[in-house]
Amino acid sequence: MQEAWWRGAAIYQVYLRSFADGNGDGLGDLAGLRGRLDYLSKLGIDAIWLNPWYPSPMSDGGYDVADYRSIEPIFGTLAEAEKLIQEAHERDIKIIIDVVPNHSSDQSAWFQEALAAGPGSAARERFWFRPGREVDGGPPNDWQSIFGGPAWTRVPDGEWYLHLFAPEQPDFNWNSPAVREEFLDVLRFWLDRGVDGVRIDSAAVLIKDPDAEPDGLDPYTDRDGVHEIYREWRRVSDTYPGRFLIGEVWLPDQERFARYLRPDELHTAFNFDFLSCPWDPAALRRVIDDTLATHTPIGAPPTWVLSNHDVTRPVTRYGRPDTSFDHGDRKHGMTSDRDLGVRRARAAALLAMALPGGVYVYQGEELGLPEVEDIPDALLQDPIWARSGHTDRGRDGCRVPLPWAGDAPPYGYGGEPWLPQPADWGPLTVEAQEPDPSSMLNLYRTALRIRRDKLGDGTLTWLPLGEDVLAFTRDSGLTCVVNLGRQPVRLPEHQQICLASGAVDGGLLPSDTAVWLL
Ligand code: NOJ
Repeated sequence: MQEAWWRGAAIYQVYLRSFADGNGDGLGDLAGLRGRLDYLSKLGIDAIWLNPWYPSPMSDGGYDVADYRSIEPIFGTLAEAEKLIQEAHERDIKIIIDVVPNHSSDQSAWFQEALAAGPGSAARERFWFRPGREVDGGPPNDWQSIFGGPAWTRVPDGEWYLHLFAPEQPDFNWNSPAVREEFLDVLRFWLDRGVDGVRIDSAAVLIKDPDAEPDGLDPYTDRDGVHEIYREWRRVSDTYPGRFLIGEVWLPDQERFARYLRPDELHTAFNFDFLSCPWDPAALRRVIDDTLATHTPIGAPPTWVLSNHDVTRPVTRYGRPDTSFDHGDRKHGMTSDRDLGVRRARAAALLAMALPGGVYVYQGEELGLPEVEDIPDALLQDPIWARSGHTDRGRDGCRVPLPWAGDAPPYGYGGEPWLPQPADWGPLTVEAQEPDPSSMLNLYRTALRIRRDKLGDGTLTWLPLGEDVLAFTRDSGLTCVVNLGRQPVRLPEHQQICLASGAVDGGLLPSDTAVWLL
């Protein structure tokens, strides 16, 4: 039997609002994406994951969904989405959508109905409504929102509702059979339209019990009941051959993480340990070994992720004195050595693409875009900025619209970008990078081409080249060597250098450089 395509796929994440603007309103859209499918085809990716594209007031960039069966008018129409799926398939590119089951928008029909129906109504049972504390009418418990501030908001009739994220994102009550049915139906709706995969937002926090006595477990993260939900989802997705589920599961405990990937649950999950790991050989080696040890026994392919729409861009992060990523401390404004960051990001890309399993590339990563750290306060859109009391500038810096061509904003993106693009992005445009064989774009193109043939799912064998070096051989015979030390290292015996992230001279691999050998 042919191996499932998603096991070793290279998946490109499109943050639609910032990808390409087809109608000139400054916001990326489906028309813009459809116009750039040939770019993605040439890049050599197997699939596109789109962040939520549903009608949304955009309080959290579309993760506040008002209607799960339609398309946000700013982005286009359902007919255009269907066209996109078809046009992508014609190019052998799969489409993965984003489903947000933990919460909806406060503007959704269900939440509006719940507000109107009042306390004790069936409509409120689909969310977490509670009376205030007996002593003073305050919030039912002391839970804090992941974006900052209390996780409860009071409505005019005196009840409070739960939102683990922004107040505009009320949490669903997954004890409600209506909620469970609704999402099974939403899954079928999109699978019937030909989508090839579903990314599940905030996948580990669906089950909660605000009334429970403390039991030593986290009150909402990774509660056991969540697995029954994914078993039901898997039963649905299994009736559509070739489709897969990927979970956004942030959990420090690898054993708990692996439970989501049991054969009757999710097919894959994002590897956030790898994404958060500092540029340090021992730490990376540990994460890679732990990842393989977690996935191999259950037969699930690992994923390798360097960035996404929630985290600091790699070229900025890897140029800082502290190269780790942590949601609790984004290190905004920490000095960053751009050249060093770019060198390491290039090497990290070759490492991620050589490891066994699937790889994710976040739009702009292939252009080496830096984090934009000087967006004026008044233009920041991420709810984290306001909810943190203006202490955390949030995630807008990695969401700035892409530069396609030209030497001044909007760099061929479309209308005036909804977040300002830096004045010095001319050399980073697709147009500028295309003719330069040593550009980041051409490194990604070549790597993805080689990867398709020689890498992806499978196993690796470590080579002992010293504690500063990560070196391994893959099933095809391709060897990846990454030098994370300060001194150049001698390459192992080889016939040919297939690809290098930087100059390799006289058989010596310089610091912060990776190479693929045959
Ligand atoms: C994770 C998403 O990636 C992030 O962008 C969003 O804010 C939260 N989930 C809440 O939906």
